[in-house]
Amino acid sequence: MQIQNLKLLNFRNYNQLAVTFDNHLNIIYGKNGSGKTNLVEAIYVLAITRSFRQINDKTLIKSGTNLTKIEGMLNDEFQTTFKIIINNDGKKVKINNNKITRISDYVSKINVVLFNPNDLKMIKDTPSIRRKYLNIGLSQLHIEYLKKLNDYNKLLKIRNAYLKQMYLNGNAMTTYLQVITEKLIDSGLEIYQMRENYLKNLNLYLKDIYKKIALDGDLVVQYDSDYQNKSRKELINLYNKNLKRDLAFGKTNIGIHHDDFHLYLDEYDLKDYGSEGQQKNAVIAWKFSEICIFKKEKNVTPILILDDLLSELDVEKIKNILQFIEQDIQTFITTTEIEKLSFLLKDKNYKKFFISNGLLEEVE
Ligand SMILES: Nc1ncnc2c1ncn2[C@@H]1O[C@H](COP(=O)(O)OP(=O)(O)OP(=O)(O)O)[C@@H](O)[C@H]1O
Ligand SMILES: [Mg+2]
Repeated sequence: MQIQNLKLLNFRNYNQLAVTFDNHLNIIYGKNGSGKTNLVEAIYVLAITRSFRQINDKTLIKSGTNLTKIEGMLNDEFQTTFKIIINNDGKKVKINNNKITRISDYVSKINVVLFNPNDLKMIKDTPSIRRKYLNIGLSQLHIEYLKKLNDYNKLLKIRNAYLKQMYLNGNAMTTYLQVITEKLIDSGLEIYQMRENYLKNLNLYLKDIYKKIALDGDLVVQYDSDYQNKSRKELINLYNKNLKRDLAFGKTNIGIHHDDFHLYLDEYDLKDYGSEGQQKNAVIAWKFSEICIFKKEKNVTPILILDDLLSELDVEKIKNILQFIEQDIQTFITTTEIEKLSFLLKDKNYKKFFISNGLLEEVE
C-alpha cells in the first residue's frame, strides 16, 4: 500500500501543499518546529481520521483559518482518493468524493503503522492509553472491531446506569440486570478474543524482531484481562460475586474496559525496569510486528512512518532498524540529522524532502 500524493490546505503550519512521494522510501528533514511531524501527522489523520497527538481535531486547523483539508491518493489499482475536511462544526470524510457517513466504514482502508517518540506512553502510561493502542491496531485490522467496541461501551453504560438506579430505589429488577450482564459478557468475550488473538500474533514476531534490533533479551507481551481463561459461566458467577461492590460504586468493576498489557524483557517489566533505549526499541519492534500481522492477516503491507527515528538510539540500533525497511514497505522517516541518516542509507534509493517553516521542497 502506497500513498502517491498528498495535498494539504491550512493544515497545522502548512498553507497549501502538494507533494508526490516515493513508493518506497521518503526522508523528511528540517529543524525542530519546521513541520516534519505535522506532515506525517497529515498522512496518519488521512488514514485513521484522528491524530496521534491530540483528541481535539481543531488543533489541526491552521491558526487564523477555520477549515483544513487533507487529500491523498492511494497507489492501488483504482487510484482511490481519500479526503478529510475538518472545520469548527466537525469532520467529513470522503472516498472518491463520496461522503462516508460512518467513520468505521472508512478507517480500515488506508493502513498506517506509525512510530512517534510519544509512543513510549504505550509502556510508561496508564492502562487506558495501552487500550487505545490495542483499539487502533485492531480497528485497522478488522473492520468490525470498532463497531463491537461501541456496542460493548453502550451496554456498559446501560448496566452502570441501571446499577445506580438499583442502588437508589432498591426495588429495581435483578432479572433485567441479569439480562444486561449476560449481554455485556457476550460482547466483552468477543473483544477479549480479538485482543487475545492480536497479542498472541504479536508475540509470534516480537521476540525475533527485538533481538535483531537490540541484539539481546527476550521480549514478550502479556495480556492482562479479567476475562482471561474464563468461560461464560465463570464470568457470570464473577459478576454475581461482584454485584455488591458494583452497586456500591455505581459502576461495573469487572470487564474488558479494564484490560491491560505488559511488555517483559527477560521477565522484567519494561515499564519499571527498562531504559529509554530499550523501551524505544521494544515499541519499534512492536510496530514492525504489526506490519507482519497486516501481511499475514490482510495480505496488505501498511505504510510505515518513523517519526524522529534517530533520537535516543545509537548508530548500531538505527542500522538494525533500517534493515527491516524492505522494498515493499512505503516508509517515511523524519529527522533533524540528515547527514547521519544519509550516511546510514548510503546504498539505498530514496526521495528527500527539506522542510522549513511549513514549506516543503524536494532535494536532489
Ligand atoms: N494549528 C496550527 N496552526 C499553525 N501552526 C501550528 C499549528 N499546530 C502546530 N503548529 C506549528 O507547527 C510547528 C511544529 O511542527 P512539528 O511538530 O511538525 O515540528 P517538527 O519539525 O516535527 O519538530 P521537531 O523536530 O521538534 O519534532 C510549531 O512551530 C507549531 O507552532
Ligand atoms: Mg517532530
